[in-house]
Amino acid sequence: MSRGYRVALVGATGAVGREMLRILGERSFPIASLRLLASARSAGRRLTFAGEEIEVAEATPGSFEDLDLAVFDTPDEVALDLVPEAARRCVVVDKSTAFRMRDDVPLVVPEVNPEAARAHHGIVANPNCTMVTMLMPLAPLHRTAGCRRVVASSYQSVSGAGGPGVEDLYEQLEKLIPERDAVRRGSVEGLVGPGRAFRHPIAFNAIPHVGGFDDTGRTSEERRFAQETCKILDAAIDIFATCVRVPTVVGHAISAWVEFERPLGVEEARAAIAAAPGVALEDDPAAARYPTPLLAAGEDKAFVGRIRRDPANERALGFFSACDNLRKGAALNAVQVAELLVAEGLV
Ligand SMILES: NC(=O)c1ccc[n+]([C@@H]2O[C@H](COP(=O)([O-])OP(=O)(O)OC[C@H]3O[C@@H](n4cnc5c(N)ncnc54)[C@H](OP(=O)(O)O)[C@@H]3O)[C@@H](O)[C@H]2O)c1
Repeated sequence: MSRGYRVALVGATGAVGREMLRILGERSFPIASLRLLASARSAGRRLTFAGEEIEVAEATPGSFEDLDLAVFDTPDEVALDLVPEAARRCVVVDKSTAFRMRDDVPLVVPEVNPEAARAHHGIVANPNCTMVTMLMPLAPLHRTAGCRRVVASSYQSVSGAGGPGVEDLYEQLEKLIPERDAVRRGSVEGLVGPGRAFRHPIAFNAIPHVGGFDDTGRTSEERRFAQETCKILDAAIDIFATCVRVPTVVGHAISAWVEFERPLGVEEARAAIAAAPGVALEDDPAAARYPTPLLAAGEDKAFVGRIRRDPANERALGFFSACDNLRKGAALNAVQVAELLVAEGLV
């Protein structure tokens, strides 16, 4: 390995962790040593990085000595336990929801608010993957015409629920593909049994339930979607979201209606988006060119299209965006944050 930083990757065996390993290699992040950590279940497994096999160790409070940087891709409860331990010894980039809304923890998307990283006190949080899909096009539009209200619906892939979500979808598809009559009648629950990640079968379905419900009827995912957009972009934006799980494997999509402070033409909106880093315009409906999850899967940019005026409101536009939830929605953003910390001498 090259000279550089002493890095630990916690949750290296998970959906985001494995993508993280790929991206650290692809972008030649300056790594002097790499420690791979996960639960006790994975201790002893070997993963490959830059042509070398590295043994996975169990993450414990004592795992963070002699490190410069630890990246966490673990469930919230693990992050709550171990991130503070790690942050006493090195800088932490965390993907979980556990610290995102804390006042002393910057929530950073490098193309949108890189300056926020300078205020870190040992922890830098990464945002929700669904929110990033909307934020990437919304940020340049907000800078252009001042966004006031957003009504959005998500189309979230099963990998957003980690490895178990992907396994549920493939297992259910295998069981249900021969069962056309049962699928037609909607009587499939007895055929697929309880899934690991979702409360209902996800194959051939769409589930408007991501996270837990609160007493207002909103889910935790919908609350995060609004709160994190406001924390990164502008606390004055009003956001109403409906988050839906759909049977795609990778790539979250968003349909958004946005009201601005002033009328914003479609061409002006397209120009603002085309000039923004990390966003690609895919907007030629006549040629059937618009974003889809499959278009975004494996790509680093967020794709945006279907930009159109609301005929009932001259200050409002609609758009559709799609983004790889495991890359820009998760691992890529975390690597970009780490690169930013390194470039600014903040590690
Ligand atoms: N998937 C996405 O699109 C996405 C997007 C943005 C943010 N995130 C966030 O990223 C984090 C990881 O998500 P994921 O989708 O990669 O989940 P995942 O596929 O379920 O992987 C979870 C990882 O955490 C490890 N882990 C579990 N319990 C542990 C423990 N007690 N100690 C140490 N490690 C433990 C697992 O190790 P074992 O293999 O040993 O169990 C695995 O490596 C979550 O906070 C999630 O909310 C995910």
